[in-house]
Amino acid sequence: MDNSPVVAQADVSLSNSLLVSLTAKSDSQLQQKVGTDFDRAMMQRCLELARRALGRTSPNPLVGAVVVKDGEIVGEGFHPRAGEPHAEVFALKAAGANARGATVYVNLEPCNHYGRTPPCSEALIAAGVAKVVVGMVDPNPLVAGGGIARLRAVGIEVLVGVEEADCRKLNEGFIHRILYKRPLGILKYAMTLDGKIATTNGHSAWVTNQEARSVVHQMRAACDAVIVGGNTVRLDNPRLTSHQQEAHNPLRVVMSRSLNLPEEANLWQTKEAPTLVLTEVGANPIFREQLLKQGVEVVELSPLTPERAMAYLYERGFCSVLWECGGTLAASAIAQGAVQKVLAFIAPKIIGGSNAPTPVGDLGFTTMTEALSLESVQVRVVGADCLIEGYLPLRQ
Ligand SMILES: NC(=O)c1ccc[n+]([C@@H]2O[C@H](COP(=O)([O-])OP(=O)(O)OC[C@H]3O[C@@H](n4cnc5c(N)ncnc54)[C@H](OP(=O)(O)O)[C@@H]3O)[C@@H](O)[C@H]2O)c1
Ligand SMILES: [Zn+2]
Repeated sequence: MDNSPVVAQADVSLSNSLLVSLTAKSDSQLQQKVGTDFDRAMMQRCLELARRALGRTSPNPLVGAVVVKDGEIVGEGFHPRAGEPHAEVFALKAAGANARGATVYVNLEPCNHYGRTPPCSEALIAAGVAKVVVGMVDPNPLVAGGGIARLRAVGIEVLVGVEEADCRKLNEGFIHRILYKRPLGILKYAMTLDGKIATTNGHSAWVTNQEARSVVHQMRAACDAVIVGGNTVRLDNPRLTSHQQEAHNPLRVVMSRSLNLPEEANLWQTKEAPTLVLTEVGANPIFREQLLKQGVEVVELSPLTPERAMAYLYERGFCSVLWECGGTLAASAIAQGAVQKVLAFIAPKIIGGSNAPTPVGDLGFTTMTEALSLESVQVRVVGADCLIEGYLPLRQ
């Protein structure tokens, strides 16, 4: 589905209460098994296909589709990038005449509006499919259910909510973008067992082991942008690429108010991946010119804040942004609501140092009752390190 001109042409035929029940579900509702084992296996196949375009579809979602006839897969497809046909169109094309009377599986409700491409609901109807199995409804409350209603109106059987939790997780950035008009902000850091992200003099390579760093590379491949602050560039000289052949590289973003940055840095090598420097209006014009000459994009925002940066990245069509900064910028990003998800790697190492930097600077809290408690927490072991993942409570 395409998300730009959706609202105006939406078929808003569902009541508000039904929309709420379609879009807001509790964890336990999401865990309920919907469909047969075969349905669930086919939906997992859709997600596998969708992942082939990881990091490349924004502002559109990751979508895969499978056409099944007499228990056999007769066509598959996925949405490769915005502006190209949707997953259903590729899968129907691959199935050809076999699509007649078939069941189509798709992880997101088929679109029902004219965006950059014609509606998939009409393509499914024209192909004569008998049944459509949908992972999740469209997250846009104004269009949610429209595609499903259109299919049902012409007598196509529709089953909704198969593997819904997994479908939502794959497109969590897209869903956040639609609902909150901002990319999903993910804060990722690696700390020692005693809570330090670097030594007292700022050395941080490496806190975690190779396995954890490979997981970080995969996270980068799935995100549209990665952000660090000027200090991290000065101290770590990071590359911030996904380090995998063929994998997507995110836009590498540096936030620097001073623009007092090193002449030579890995991030200024833009052959492998693009770099954007966000700075204050009028900062260090000589160095700004130098960056531009090297192919680094420079954008001035005033004031340069995490919220302003996220608003700008939303306008660029991004769905998910990985904050890989140090504690000062991380605290500011959390305080301004630019972070919704946290990925914390914990290495079983002790470095000590009363002044060694920690993952999150001052948030102004004075009592433990003010602590931000993560929700939907998952803990897993990655090599010798531990990864804790969770979501910050949504602000009202
Ligand atoms: N282990 C890890 O996961 C990890 C990850 C990243 C960093 N680190 C470590 O963290 C340390 C650096 O920490 P840091 O907190 O100084 O990180 P940082 O990521 O460099 O963020 C701070 C910098 O961000 C820039 N900035 C722009 N707008 C800002 C705003 N509104 N609020 C705050 N900062 C803004 C400033 O750059 P200018 O000064 O250029 O204006 C500021 O110096 C280093 O020792 C590095 O090794 C560790
Ligand atoms: Zn579509």
